[in-house]
Amino acid sequence: MVTGGARLAGEVSVSGAKNSVLKLMAAALLAEGTTVLTNVPDILDVTIMGEVLRRLGCTVERADGSVAITVPAMPGHEADYDLVRRIRASIAVLGPLLARCGEARVALPGGDAIGSRGLDMHAAGLVKLGATVVIEHGYLIARAARLCGATVWLDFPSVGATENLLMASALAKGTTVIDNAAREPEIVDLCRMLGQMGARISGVGTSTLEVEGVETLRPVAHRTVPDRIVAGTWAVAAVMTRGDVTVQGGRPDHLEMPLDKLVQAGADVHGAEGGFRVVMDRRPVAVDLVTLPYPGFATDFQPLFLGLNTVAEGTSMITENVFESRWMFVNELVRLGADVRTDGHHAVVRGRERLSGAPVRAHDIRAGAGLVLAGLVADGVTEVSDVHHIDRGYEGFVDKLTALGADVRREPAPAEVWPD
Ligand code: UD1
Repeated sequence: MVTGGARLAGEVSVSGAKNSVLKLMAAALLAEGTTVLTNVPDILDVTIMGEVLRRLGCTVERADGSVAITVPAMPGHEADYDLVRRIRASIAVLGPLLARCGEARVALPGGDAIGSRGLDMHAAGLVKLGATVVIEHGYLIARAARLCGATVWLDFPSVGATENLLMASALAKGTTVIDNAAREPEIVDLCRMLGQMGARISGVGTSTLEVEGVETLRPVAHRTVPDRIVAGTWAVAAVMTRGDVTVQGGRPDHLEMPLDKLVQAGADVHGAEGGFRVVMDRRPVAVDLVTLPYPGFATDFQPLFLGLNTVAEGTSMITENVFESRWMFVNELVRLGADVRTDGHHAVVRGRERLSGAPVRAHDIRAGAGLVLAGLVADGVTEVSDVHHIDRGYEGFVDKLTALGADVRREPAPAEVWPD
């Protein structure tokens, strides 16, 4: 329940990236023994991914901000539908399990309701490395006695496919080249951890990754990269509410494009010790944007900036190139009085002075956060339902908003609204 009108001010801290830690947890499968990850966010997806690993025979222990994963000599090789449907990122166990066990059976995933999110590039890449891949009874089944290095050209710099191929090729025989690879900071984080484990990867941070396979990898301790999407969410919230927010732990070098857009919208953004500060003292100016793989404008920011544009001065055009059906969120914003039209990949947003509170529903993590931010600049009360999506990716969202001065409360208790 969000009551609009407050100006957000103060400090907020950002922990490790969801989109990194889930893959780092999968990467732990590559080495027998105990891997310890730190700067781990306290979010639902980490809990579910921990359960995926437990069912594979690992021991998973969580403490404040860390997770210790103990992997047996031979983990199980099947991730079932019951868990995989709740967390699409669990597809990241495919590459490591295939490399470690010679076989991986992973149920076809569910996850966020955004686009079709195929797995064809994951499968084609593993086939290039010598695996056989079939889909049977709702499972993707990959087999290979030992993977062999090869050159893989990705049709699109898919984050998930790049990660699976990196992890699979780390233990392959010979050298693998992944061309047109994704370059997101979370991929760099995974490469850093794999490097510490003993993998030989060059070209880290570029679109051509070269992996020289090794016989075994060792467990490590690794600190997760900060969550740039969460950091950016707080920055957008500051701008929408004409506030003054210091984002502790946020890395501006991972946010160059979105922070530049906020400056174009009229914000003052500058570095602060341990993070950055965003100050806004007027109505934002509408900004055009086009989503692209990193270092382009991240698709995960699109719902947040679309929300910002609904209350900005002027008209903007938003082009979504990464996920084809990320517009479900728009129908919810229209319920709040936003003026948005979509056509194919494009949305035209005509800014309004204020939105007006209404009941709306979250369809995915970022849309959920975007609706809460929209509620902050709407008259009256906005009731956002299905907020379990927000729990998947934002640690202490309501508490952090409240600490910044927002009038937000949660009801009923989280346990009662989480899915089974
Ligand atoms: C990851 C992020 C997600 C982010 C996305 C793009 C996680 C847990 N999720 O998702 O938050 O929005 O990157 O930055 O890290 N595709 C195919 N075939 C494939 C693989 C992908 O067609 O084999 C398509 C997808 O349908 C989508 C596009 O490629 O249209 C991008 O997908 P991808 O980069 O793989 O995103 P994810 O890894 O699923």
